[in-house]
Amino acid sequence: MTSEINDDEPLLRVSGLSKFYGARVGCEDVSFELWPGEVLAVVGESGSGKTTLLNCLATRLIPSSGNVSYRMRDAEMRDIYRLSEAERRFLMRTDWGFVHQNPADGLRMTVSAGANVGERLMAVGERNYGSIRGTATDWLGRVEIAADRVDDEPRAFSGGMRQRLQIARNLVTHPRLVFMDEPTGGLDVSVQARLLDLLRGLVADLGLSAIVVTHDLAVARLLSHRMMVMKDGRVIEHGLTDRVLDDPHAPYTQLLVSSILQV
Ligand SMILES: Nc1ncnc2c1ncn2[C@@H]1O[C@H](COP(=O)(O)OP(=O)(O)OP(=O)(O)O)[C@@H](O)[C@H]1O
Ligand SMILES: [Mg+2]
Repeated sequence: MTSEINDDEPLLRVSGLSKFYGARVGCEDVSFELWPGEVLAVVGESGSGKTTLLNCLATRLIPSSGNVSYRMRDAEMRDIYRLSEAERRFLMRTDWGFVHQNPADGLRMTVSAGANVGERLMAVGERNYGSIRGTATDWLGRVEIAADRVDDEPRAFSGGMRQRLQIARNLVTHPRLVFMDEPTGGLDVSVQARLLDLLRGLVADLGLSAIVVTHDLAVARLLSHRMMVMKDGRVIEHGLTDRVLDDPHAPYTQLLVSSILQV
């Protein structure tokens, strides 16, 4: 994927980030920068620390050591672990999105699809019922959910529809940074392909930055500009997606790439 990245400061700067669960390594000594408009894929086998890293970055987990700073809308770089609770909540509601692997974790299953999307708008101060409903319906259309399903609860949706609804709920407020944990995991192949197309279009249209955790190299190829390969909690390779996939340097990445012939 290509796009224009022309800002002079990173959106996110991560240095020496480690998270231990007791004696067990979650992730260790991870450093990178994420630039505005950039999509970073984090790949690696099960247990390599991808979710741990993502949760630390999204302040859903507090790391054992290391620093993460985020460029706020006023351009100030702030240590995300030193934000007040109110500031952190505000970021989560406005600037950031988090797409969970399991849509049920990111949706309210017993309120309507329209309300799931509208709720995020209300959280950023939108008060007009008609315009909230209009925007919500518009977003359902963008993720290919028919307008006549707006009053249905997500528990009446299929897995793929739930995932699309979760994406609409996250993107409706035009976040600057979206965290995604296996956004196409658990879906069948044809649904995955459509969802990936959709995500790719939305990311490009909105110019947002994203960190996408996946164990699927084809997802990384399609969505990301850069990728990091993790193994045993550490980043063992990091580079432009096409370079890493076409000319992997680390033996482990070579193994990973050669075992997936279709990428
Ligand atoms: N809450 C926890 N308590 C203890 N250990 C944990 C916890 N969560 C994760 N771990 C350990 O941290 C390591 C990294 O796990 P993590 O969930 O980050 O991996 P992952 O790359 O997301 O794997 P998967 O692809 O299976 O989702 C694993 O060894 C795991 O057992
Ligand atoms: Mg995981």
